[in-house]
Amino acid sequence: MAGIRILETAHYVPERIVENEELTHYMDTSDEWISSRTGISRRHVVTAENTSDVTLKVAQALLAQADLEPAKLDFILVATMSPDYLTPGVAAQVQGALGAINAFALDVNAACAGFVYALTVADKLIAEGQRGLVIGADVLSKLIDWDDRTSAVLFGDGAGGFLVEGVPVSAIHATDLATFGIDNHAIRAGKVANKNVIAGEISPAEPYFAMSGRDVYNFATRQVPMSIVKALDSAELTLSDIDKVLLHQANGRMVEQIAKKLKQPLEKFPTNIAEYGNTSAASIPILADELIKSEAIKRGDKLVFTGFGGGLSLGTTIITY
Ligand code: ACO
Repeated sequence: MAGIRILETAHYVPERIVENEELTHYMDTSDEWISSRTGISRRHVVTAENTSDVTLKVAQALLAQADLEPAKLDFILVATMSPDYLTPGVAAQVQGALGAINAFALDVNAACAGFVYALTVADKLIAEGQRGLVIGADVLSKLIDWDDRTSAVLFGDGAGGFLVEGVPVSAIHATDLATFGIDNHAIRAGKVANKNVIAGEISPAEPYFAMSGRDVYNFATRQVPMSIVKALDSAELTLSDIDKVLLHQANGRMVEQIAKKLKQPLEKFPTNIAEYGNTSAASIPILADELIKSEAIKRGDKLVFTGFGGGLSLGTTIITY
């Protein structure tokens, strides 16, 4: 079936690095707790940029790498749960900034699973010969309650993405998308207040991130292996056909547990969480770009991408690079 193939990959993270030790000045935590429970050593945090800025950096890098005019793009999809505004979407802001006048632009919000969802949308929408950007970008530092040590230590800001092209046979072999809305309360952020003139204040703001970390941990370690097996079955592949499994980078211990459940060597599950923390929708494309640029992933490699997070949402795709 027609669909996408990956032409280029790129990522961008803010310059400012916040080491675990620095967080001990702002909250009651320690490098030992953070690194032993999560595998995170540092994260990159914006000082002046917003989500559209980090997304634009990735879009510009992708176009420069491909030597492609912005007007040649047919679409821009941005996976994000932290847009600058509820409207315009980040994708529309970036389309305008690039001058990608022939591209339609759409944000996709499936939190940390968003990049897999956006890639799936691109695969279904694209026509042969078309080109588009699929970017995952989040600036969660603006949604974090910096007094809540249980979530503040986990996240970092960044963006990563792919330039994709429409081809007669999709590079995507199979996809498994699932939503567990019954557990939507497990991760929440960004509720705006409604103080309408008709009824007064009917809904106060709850801007900051609230998460039941343990519930999300259990959800991911239970559901992610099942999703990967389901996608492999529908692609008529097995884990031995797969070169690398790129999981959403939420917690290094989760990655270890999922690899163990799937009875696979940990080397198949590369991580970069020590450097970036959880960058939400950006984590899979940042990791993919790093591995491709360092030639740890080569053309022809079969990859699994699995994202999970707010919703609760889950998405697995199996793709040949
Ligand atoms: N520093 C020091 N102590 C801490 C910190 C901290 N930063 N945070 C919590 N603690 C304490 C707690 O208060 C608790 O103390 P107590 O035993 O005295 O009550 C103790 O450490 C243990 O806390 P737990 O919450 O039980 O720790 P746990 O081992 O479950 O680890 C963590 C918490 C790291 C959040 C883990 O549950 C996790 O990674 N969950 C998954 C989160 C996730 O994947 N989110 C992804 C989705 S995000 C998205 O979609 C955008």
